[in-house]
Amino acid sequence: MTVPPPADLVVAVAPGRVNLIGDHTDTTGGLVLPMAIDLATTVRGRPGGEQVVLTSDDEAEPAVVPLDVGDPATIEPAWARYVAGVVAELRPTAGFTGTVSTTLPLGAGLSSSAALEVAVALALGFDGPTLDLAQLAQRAEQRASGVPCGIMDQLASAAGVDGAALLIDCHDLAVAPVALPDDVEVRVVHSGEARRLAGSAYAERRSAVEAAEEELGPLRLLSDPAEVDRLTDPVLRRRARHVVTENGRVRDFATALAAGDVALAGELMAASHASLRDDFEVSTPALDRLVEQLSGLPGVHGARLTGAGFGGCAVALTRPGALDEGWAVRPAAGAAVVGADRAG
Ligand code: GLA
Repeated sequence: MTVPPPADLVVAVAPGRVNLIGDHTDTTGGLVLPMAIDLATTVRGRPGGEQVVLTSDDEAEPAVVPLDVGDPATIEPAWARYVAGVVAELRPTAGFTGTVSTTLPLGAGLSSSAALEVAVALALGFDGPTLDLAQLAQRAEQRASGVPCGIMDQLASAAGVDGAALLIDCHDLAVAPVALPDDVEVRVVHSGEARRLAGSAYAERRSAVEAAEEELGPLRLLSDPAEVDRLTDPVLRRRARHVVTENGRVRDFATALAAGDVALAGELMAASHASLRDDFEVSTPALDRLVEQLSGLPGVHGARLTGAGFGGCAVALTRPGALDEGWAVRPAAGAAVVGADRAG
């Protein structure tokens, strides 16, 4: 009897992301400007069997997901729901046994879950356009977490470009690289506060902007913030004003970066934070203090909360070496299968 050779080793790597500007705009087809970062999640293993079995350096319990998994949100341990979400969306014909490791801080707002979904999809054999990969991973995230998230995190992880941030139009999903000037550094600093209520408050904000759109039409088509004054509900007016003004700031930020105008880029980040704090109300006192403190330091062009808010991280654009706290991150290439051989 001959012993079959072991299946090929597959190594898939997907980066996290930091959003430089444009938060809570993706769900209404607006503009965002994230970058994939040089902190990433790696899935390594071999296809085969009837289930997906992944052990993680950071988790006590493995993820064990049958290929015919039902509702991903019911799977334990909780981290395995993201794996189950991908399995439920991709329905691979073979299982997989391997490991997950990451250099990303977990649950800090750098899209560790998006990186996991994208890396798992590639490891399980996803083969198709980058946008399809991102959309599959977005659906996996929604099914796993129950949060009606937008496309930004998964698309940034899938479509990252070495050396460039990504201007993404979330309506037509066009991705345009915007090179970062040589003389800047991007720093991510944790507020010390875990994200709270992120799921339910995120969904509530999303419904509010949808309610505003029922009266005003697509917010992405409004360029004059005064148009939101037609809304009679003061809360909806503030939510809509954030989205309309933030879309404008993303456009201006992309132009400022391309022109190397880091002072203007920093001012736009400050205005974005104020809008997220006052109009969209997703900041926290700890994030406000952190952003204020970072913004006052020499060599810091601008700072703002990044991602969904309700805790988590701030991002700062600085002169190289101006800050030594947090993580210095570089714009990195998107997810890829980096190795498949019989040697490992
Ligand atoms: C989370 C979501 C994204 C986006 C941001 C806020 O990261 O997953 O789709 O909405 O919040 O900009």
